[in-house]
Amino acid sequence: MPLKKIVVLFSGKGTNLKNIIKKLHKKEIGGCLYEISGAICNKKEAQGIDICKNYHIPFGIIEHKNFNSREEFDRKLVQSINFYKPDLTVLAGFMRILTPIFTDNIKAINLHPSLLPLFKGANAIEKSFYSDMKIGGVSVHYVSSELDGGKLILQECFKKEEDETLDSFTKKIKEIEYRLLPNAIIKILGV
Ligand code: GRF
Repeated sequence: MPLKKIVVLFSGKGTNLKNIIKKLHKKEIGGCLYEISGAICNKKEAQGIDICKNYHIPFGIIEHKNFNSREEFDRKLVQSINFYKPDLTVLAGFMRILTPIFTDNIKAINLHPSLLPLFKGANAIEKSFYSDMKIGGVSVHYVSSELDGGKLILQECFKKEEDETLDSFTKKIKEIEYRLLPNAIIKILGV
């Protein structure tokens, strides 16, 4: 059975990392065995590190603040990802703008909490919630040198209710994220 190796990059809570581990790690799905071979974080205080420890996922911390340029950081990141020889790298809340040193060398996908191409960049949930739009959504796309601009893989939208609060809106996004990201990984890596 083909083994599909995944590396996850994250910066914060890591709830999507946890979800991917629970749904895919060491699981046989559609004729493939999935493995979260490693995780890399750019913040040493990120809560997601405890998730790696709890689930015995090898992890590395590469603090971007210790590098003189984005390129230098990306070079180290690429080297660390390649150590695991992954089939796919998954950005799950990885809050960094990446240079071509990363995007030209790593096959990666990103999870974004809006209906791209709308509301690119930081604070997408707030921007989407406070906009005039009657729907919100989640996108998974390939990582390219354009921020949140690579080819879309999966996208799902939902209705913004009249009495919607930022909390209920965020909850709906999270629910979709936990379904969409594993599905996108299987869509790409599945046989
Ligand atoms: C998610 O909402 C994702 O769409 C965005 O960053 C967030 C990460 O959340 N890119 P978590 O750390 O997985 O909880």
